[in-house]
Amino acid sequence: MSIQTIGVIGAGQMGNGIAHVFAQAGYAVLMQDITEGYARKGLATIDKNLQRGVDKGKLTADAKAAVLDRVKVTTRLDDLADCDLVIEAATEKWEVKKQLFDTLDLVCKPGTILASNTSSISITKLAAVTKRPGSFIGMHFMNPVPVMQLVEIIRGLATDDTTFDAVMELAKQLGKTPIACNDFPGFVSNRVLLPMINEAIYALYEGVATVESIDGIMKLGMNHPMGPLTLADFIGLDTCLYILNVLHEGLGDPKYRPCPLLIKYVDAGWLGRKSGRGFYDYNKA
Ligand code: CAA
Repeated sequence: MSIQTIGVIGAGQMGNGIAHVFAQAGYAVLMQDITEGYARKGLATIDKNLQRGVDKGKLTADAKAAVLDRVKVTTRLDDLADCDLVIEAATEKWEVKKQLFDTLDLVCKPGTILASNTSSISITKLAAVTKRPGSFIGMHFMNPVPVMQLVEIIRGLATDDTTFDAVMELAKQLGKTPIACNDFPGFVSNRVLLPMINEAIYALYEGVATVESIDGIMKLGMNHPMGPLTLADFIGLDTCLYILNVLHEGLGDPKYRPCPLLIKYVDAGWLGRKSGRGFYDYNKA
């Protein structure tokens, strides 16, 4: 199966990162978002992140221009009709994703592989929205996408071997390391990561230590690049809560119960870095 043209749905944090790595690996990318403004903002982020490489002498200005030239933007899903693979990185809401895959299944040519970057929604359930569940798969990139080595590849119940093999190979072409797992709530990454983050929030809630101490202990003691509360702010507290709810409801075990403090922060609109306030205040100079 030859994959040349990639459609990316969503130009946000994950979408622009995914478009970035595909374009850098030489693929033609069409990045779609609901407004021209969102799409252009995503393109500007790719430009900024590529510039980091130019500033460090790891990428020439010409190479950067060539990568950017491979990313086109659109607001129309119809424009993705001829893509060989479309990867969805839209907002983490079932209704939004369901509607997107309904439409993509209609507009995309028969051979197009449909993939989702969802961090927790069932791949099997998303695949069942389409008439091509065999050609449906999870491609879960980690944030920041240009930096992180892993792509978690999630096989839905109906994902066929041709699709699985093609997507494993594709992730290698990006210079990433694909690792496969089956489709259960939270897959592997978030089933293991989110309970740790939740426990760090409980430790704060119960007054075991301050934000800085919890992060410092985990960062220095476990050699984690970020403490769990910094990481929660980085992921987005609404996303953390959403994933914990998926784990709690999907596995039915009270050990996944989201900490009330996390719920309170999300209710307050304290969503982490993206809102300027989470466990840390990002508006401070
Ligand atoms: N795009 C491109 N390059 C980037 C980047 C971005 N968005 N962010 C950082 N970089 C590059 C920097 O330019 C730098 O490059 P060089 O090594 O070439 O100098 C390198 O990454 C390291 O960055 P910094 O020196 O600025 O900062 P750092 O050493 O503190 O690293 C970090 C930053 C890579 C984010 C690091 O803190 C880290 O690995 N944190 C943990 C990230 C993590 O756990 N991600 C997974 C989140 S969970 C998830 O994504 C899944 C989910 O479903 C919730």
